[in-house]
Amino acid sequence: MPVQPSADRRAADLIIFGGTGDLSMRKLLPALYHCDRDGRLSEDTRIIAMSRGGLDDADFRGKVDAEVRPALGDAEGWDRFVNRLHHVSVDVGGPAEPAGWDALTSLLAGREDHDRVFYLASPPMTFGPFCHSAYEAGLVTPQSRVVLEKPLGRDLASAQAINDEVGAIFDESQIFRIDHYLGKETVQNLLVLRFANVFLEPIWNSLWIDHVQITAAETVGTPGRRGYYDHAGALRDMVQNHLLQLLCLVAMEPPSKNDREAVRDEKVKVLESLRPIVGSEVDRFTVRGQYTSGRLGDETVPGYLDEPDSTRPTAASHRVETFAAVRAEVKNWRWAGVPFYLRTGKRLPARQSEIVVQFKDVPHAIFAGATPNRLVLRLQPDEGIHLRLMAKEPGAGEVTLRPVPLSLSFADTFTTRVPDAYERLLTDVLAGNPTLFMRRDEVEAAWRWIDPIIAHWEGSGMSPEPYPAGTAGPAGAHELLARSDRTWHEEAFE
Ligand code: BG6
Repeated sequence: MPVQPSADRRAADLIIFGGTGDLSMRKLLPALYHCDRDGRLSEDTRIIAMSRGGLDDADFRGKVDAEVRPALGDAEGWDRFVNRLHHVSVDVGGPAEPAGWDALTSLLAGREDHDRVFYLASPPMTFGPFCHSAYEAGLVTPQSRVVLEKPLGRDLASAQAINDEVGAIFDESQIFRIDHYLGKETVQNLLVLRFANVFLEPIWNSLWIDHVQITAAETVGTPGRRGYYDHAGALRDMVQNHLLQLLCLVAMEPPSKNDREAVRDEKVKVLESLRPIVGSEVDRFTVRGQYTSGRLGDETVPGYLDEPDSTRPTAASHRVETFAAVRAEVKNWRWAGVPFYLRTGKRLPARQSEIVVQFKDVPHAIFAGATPNRLVLRLQPDEGIHLRLMAKEPGAGEVTLRPVPLSLSFADTFTTRVPDAYERLLTDVLAGNPTLFMRRDEVEAAWRWIDPIIAHWEGSGMSPEPYPAGTAGPAGAHELLARSDRTWHEEAFE
C-alpha cells in the first residue's frame, strides 16, 4: 500500500525545465513516484513539466503513463502520482516564450507561500536565461530554489559565468548543484563508516594507507550522445564532478557536525589541497583513451567513432577521451605521499564503481605470503563494504595464509529497497537541505584543478590511446600504476 502523504511535509511546486527529456523520464519522474509512494510528498505538491513539446496536462500524463509506469512494477498509488502532473509548453529564448511563462504564472498564482523548486534538467547554457525569464515573470519567491544539473560549464571560466548569471537571481543558499553520485547509498555510507565508527580514523592516513583507487567503470557506450560527448569527454563528464566528489569524501577531515556548511567546508579544503598537475606532468600523471570496436559479453560493439548518431564524427570526435585515469595527490599532513588513482571509462568489461583503500604492508612480517589489507566500498552493482583480511588456512603443519573478505552486502543485510540516488536528492531539495549538493566554491575549485590537464591535452595535438571495447582501458592506465609497482583492483572485471 502506498503511504499516505505526511501532513508535516510542506507543499511544493516542483517545476522541471526539460520535463519530457531523457533525465526527467528515466530518473526524475520514477524517483518522484517513489517519493510519493513512500509518503514523502505533501498532499498538495505538484510536479510541473516545462518543455517545448506543445503538450497539455492530459498528453503529458499519457506520455508518463506509457513511458515511465512500465518500469515501476505494481506501480501502487500510481493515480495519486499522475494527478500531481502538469505540463506547460515554453520555449526559453524562443518566439513562443512569453505565452509559456503566462501559462506557468497562472498555474502558480495564489501559491506564492508554497515552496517552489525550479529543476533545470537542461543544458548549462539555458541556466542563466531560464533564471532571468523566471525572475522577469515574477515567479522567483523567497521560498524558491533552483536545481542545476551537471555539467556546470566546461571549464572554470564558463562555470563562473553560469554561477554569476544564476547568482544574480538566486542567493547561494537557494542554489542546489546536483551531483547524483552524492545521493548513492554507499557514498552516504562512506561518511557513516568513517564518522560513526571509531576503528578507522586512527589508520586513515599516510602512515597506514598506501594508496586509494576510485573507479567508475561503465559497459555502456555513447550511442546518440555524440553532440554532447565530443565536447565533454570522460574528464569533464565524470572526473570533474563524480570522482572528485568521492575523493573528497575519502580524504576530508571529520566535520564538526553533519551540517550543510561544515561538510562542504571540509570538501572544499580537499579540492584546494589537490596538487596541480601542469605542463609535462600531465603526460606522466594522466592517461586518456578512446574505445574501438570490441567484444563485450557475447556482443561485438562498435568503436566510439562508429557509434550510431544523427551526426557524423568530426575532428573533435577523434580527439575526445572515453577513458581517463589520473594520479592525484592531496597535499596535506594526513595524505602526503598517498596517491589517489582515479579512473573512469565507457565500454569497459563490467559496470563497476568502487573505492578501494589499499593499506600498507605489516611493518614487520613474521609470516610468508601476507598481502596488505584492502577496504573496498562498492557503489554499484551489489552495494557493499568488503575488508580483505589475512587468515590462516585450516590445517596442521606449516601456516598458510589466505586473504579472506569480511563482507557487508547491503542487499543481504537490509531488506528495505535501496532507493535511487535521485530519490534521496529530490527529497533533500524539497526539504531545503543542501548538504549533498555542491557549493559554488567546490565546483570552481574542481575546475581549477581540471583546467590545466585539459589545456595540456588540447595543446599537445595528440589523440587518446585506443583500447578495444570490453578491455580494462588503454595500456597507459596499467603503466600509470606499474611505474610504482602497483596494480588496479581488477576483481570485478575477471
Ligand atoms: C552521468 C554521465 O553524470 O553519469 C554519464 O553524464 C554516465 O555519461 C552517468 O553514464 C553514470 O551514472 P551512474 O549512476 O550510472 O554511474
